[in-house]
Amino acid sequence: MPNIILVGFMGTGKTSVGRRLSRCLEMPYLDTDEIIEQSAGRCITDIFAQHGESYFRELESEAVQKISGLDKHVISTGGGIVLRAGNLEILKRNGLVFCLTATSEEIWARVKNETHRPLLKAPEPVEKIRKMLEAREAYYALADYTIQTDGLPIEQVTDEVIEVFQNAINSR
Ligand code: S3P
Repeated sequence: MPNIILVGFMGTGKTSVGRRLSRCLEMPYLDTDEIIEQSAGRCITDIFAQHGESYFRELESEAVQKISGLDKHVISTGGGIVLRAGNLEILKRNGLVFCLTATSEEIWARVKNETHRPLLKAPEPVEKIRKMLEAREAYYALADYTIQTDGLPIEQVTDEVIEVFQNAINSR
């Protein structure tokens, strides 16, 4: 059984959907951001503040390497994991990749009360999100499936992923 890999911008619901998928399908759950924090012994905000984004991207690629041999897991990833081509290539070897999407306005509404996303600390956050989405569009398009999440509850997004996943493995 392949992994279910969730990619997509910050605030598209990867963690909540991933945890629910894990419960519904009885597949263990992993999150690349958590793997990075555990091995670095620091939170993402501190890693960005002390070493910058490119160092964080190195740790992110190391986390992908670490989990590359797994199967039958639900794996949520950080929103920028797609930026290094090799990461998605490795994740696709043992998994089906689902990209969760939402508009910049909806993303901001979901994340504005949270403090752990250094890249969204900007004077005009919706504009920053819009620009980042545009810059990343081509990378997110490399996912196997795209699931639109605007206005949808976690349960509905989860059910949709399950349906697509089950159809995909049944037709293999
Ligand atoms: C990032 C997304 C974050 C985290 C880091 C960078 C990004 O993860 O990996 O702050 O570049 O989009 P979430 O998508 O889980 O918030």
